[in-house]
Amino acid sequence: MKVLLAVTGGIAAYKAVELVSILRKRKDEIKVLMTESATKFISPLTFSAVGNTEVYTNEFDYTGLISHTGLSAWAEIMVIAPATANTIAKIANGIADNIVTASALAFKGPKIVVPAMNVRMYENPVTQDNIQKLLNYGWTIVDPESGHLADGEEGKGRYPDNAKIVFEIESLLTRKDMGGLRVLVTAGPTREAIDPVRYISNRSSGKMGYEIAKMAAIRGAQVDLVSGPVNIPAPFKVKRYEVESVQEMAEKVLGLLENEDVVIMAAAVSDYKVERVSDQKIKKINEELNLKLIKTTDILLEISKRRRSNQFVVGFAAETQNLVENAKHKFESKSLDMIVANDVSRKDIGFESDYDEVFIISKTSDPVHVERMTKREIANLLLDMVVTQKGEKI
Ligand code: CTP
Repeated sequence: MKVLLAVTGGIAAYKAVELVSILRKRKDEIKVLMTESATKFISPLTFSAVGNTEVYTNEFDYTGLISHTGLSAWAEIMVIAPATANTIAKIANGIADNIVTASALAFKGPKIVVPAMNVRMYENPVTQDNIQKLLNYGWTIVDPESGHLADGEEGKGRYPDNAKIVFEIESLLTRKDMGGLRVLVTAGPTREAIDPVRYISNRSSGKMGYEIAKMAAIRGAQVDLVSGPVNIPAPFKVKRYEVESVQEMAEKVLGLLENEDVVIMAAAVSDYKVERVSDQKIKKINEELNLKLIKTTDILLEISKRRRSNQFVVGFAAETQNLVENAKHKFESKSLDMIVANDVSRKDIGFESDYDEVFIISKTSDPVHVERMTKREIANLLLDMVVTQKGEKI
């Protein structure tokens, strides 16, 4: 994506450096604009180095580079972060007196403004009117957060989490082909207690399920994410339910099932649990310790028994051998619409990795071999297939 990032002169200007870094890691193309006052807070060199990019600070000093009209024609999206009350007032009124405001006036694509300022300036009706004006002109506003402000005051005006801004950027540039669908995704491992301090779990990081949940939300779906214990923050606009045991996950998932259009079971659910969980920590008294394990609920099997025919159900198959054959068996026995098979014996993909290589098996096509790629790319590919096949099913 080609992102034109405009930084204006507030104390939060330094926080836009992290935004540039995130965008660069995502392989977006970035060009940075700064107002003169922004350069008093942070050096253009910082943005240039972190983003490996050109930084424009003066509309009359192009030194052979592009003008505000050229920049605004180049970009797919424009983001003003942080946006001061002064810049918001100017762009709301069509003033074009510097590189940022002139580019904003000339830009025709999707635009995001991230107000960040002192709470009294933010709450002033003039600023609120100007923000409303921008909304009416089609700008997307990423609201500031409440909390401690630079001048020691408390209130609304803090620069928000950069992940929220990135979510809005992606969201604005993505076709809403899952709009109107409610999607349930499960992710991460489960934990079965042995005693108050120990449990049985697995190496699932939750990354695949979280990417699916996030991308479905970006594509317009209403997403419920039932998640085992993981180290990933809840994606924006996704409703997350945190669970630990298989029983908790089963109850949550089966409770939500009725209202879902699509169910994607990416969680690595434990097949067994300890028959009797010890109330006290098990002491190291004997040479041997035998734990009797019994089967847990197979949530996906339960879903397949209760589902309506217009619900689209996707399972995952974690295998260490006979990948496609074993996955096909699960596909049949759990009456699925689709199954994603991955080889969890490989070190370069799968558990904990950002990459995976999978086979997608469905009713309406031959198994699709998805070569090694990022989990985000796989999530999007999977959702492409879900959207197409769900459409064919209706
Ligand atoms: N699954 C489930 N409930 C369980 C076990 C698995 O809902 N108790 C789901 C997983 O979320 C996944 C699919 O079933 O979508 C397949 O999981 P997997 O562990 O690969 O297979 P199992 O059915 O458990 O079979 P096996 O362990 O024998 O390979």
